[in-house]
Amino acid sequence: MTVTPDSICRMPKAELHLHIEGTLEPGLCFRLADRNGIKLAYGSVADLKAAYRFANLQDFLDLYYQGTHVLIEEQDFYDLTWAYLEKARTQTILHTEIFFDPQAHTGRGIPFERALGGITRALGDAEAKLGLTSNLIFCMLRHLDAASAERTLDQALEHKDRLAGIGLDSSEVGHPPENFKAVFERARKEGFRAVAHAGEEGPPEYVWGALDLLGVSRIDHGNRALEDAALVDRLVRDRMPLTVCPLSNLKLSVVDDLARHPLREMLERGLMATVNSDDPAYFGGYLNENFLAVWAALDLSEGQLFTLVRNSFEASFAEGARKQTLITRLDDFAKSEGWQTG
Ligand code: HPA
Ligand code: ZN
Repeated sequence: MTVTPDSICRMPKAELHLHIEGTLEPGLCFRLADRNGIKLAYGSVADLKAAYRFANLQDFLDLYYQGTHVLIEEQDFYDLTWAYLEKARTQTILHTEIFFDPQAHTGRGIPFERALGGITRALGDAEAKLGLTSNLIFCMLRHLDAASAERTLDQALEHKDRLAGIGLDSSEVGHPPENFKAVFERARKEGFRAVAHAGEEGPPEYVWGALDLLGVSRIDHGNRALEDAALVDRLVRDRMPLTVCPLSNLKLSVVDDLARHPLREMLERGLMATVNSDDPAYFGGYLNENFLAVWAALDLSEGQLFTLVRNSFEASFAEGARKQTLITRLDDFAKSEGWQTG
């Protein structure tokens, strides 16, 4: 049977690269601003939406950090997270690994515990009510210094049971992985998994740094790794997952046209690519829209779609039995659709 848009939407999926602050839809932004007595710089939802045009990563980040200012109370973080999880459920996402940026909140006087509390309460409800499993990853803002990252790790260590890993995000160029070598080393010694954004705008050297200095288990984005043949060999040999975000890449001009997106080439070169939405409220689509867009633009086969999802289940930090259940769900789906996956 051939792939249809409907079958892509029904396909079981995992999401491994999703910034919860990047799921703040304009409507919710206005509701939270209202609830918290905050005056936004935009007069209406339409005005805010019209501002979602970005020349590059920094352009986007400026608006993204501005958006976080409406998140004040624990319930705000709950509502934000719950809205994403309900959406994820409608997109047949069975497992999700969520980033949050503690310093974007503590830096404006919101306690770490308050943000964490609201997010994890929603994650708990999603598992109980929707059967959707998750892991939470705290990201270090790389435009801030290592001392701030160390203090954030100290806070995270007080809540080890609710956090799976450490990540690295924000403005990439000029903020190389080596700045965070010590904090990542300490986090890994404490049992956290490590991931890092690398090769989105930054050069292949930053991907090498994420591997060799930060000890990551996944590379977030990784597009520019393709410029370095030795790096590609290393990533293939290690089966290092890349959490690729097609619509994000298009909106931030990492690619100029989805038809020239490197995802297909990544698969053909044996890289362990996955598809993710990054900041869906800002980039024009959640996970299904990302799959539909690359499927159409790159003419992906059913075998390639299957591989992308299977990669994301394998690359997840879900515990063993859950991972097996996810993979079985995908196998059953492919069989029932009559997909050729070999
Ligand atoms: N890149 C870096 N930092 C980010 C991103 C991204 O795509 N989204 C939110 N923070
Ligand atoms: Zn990201």
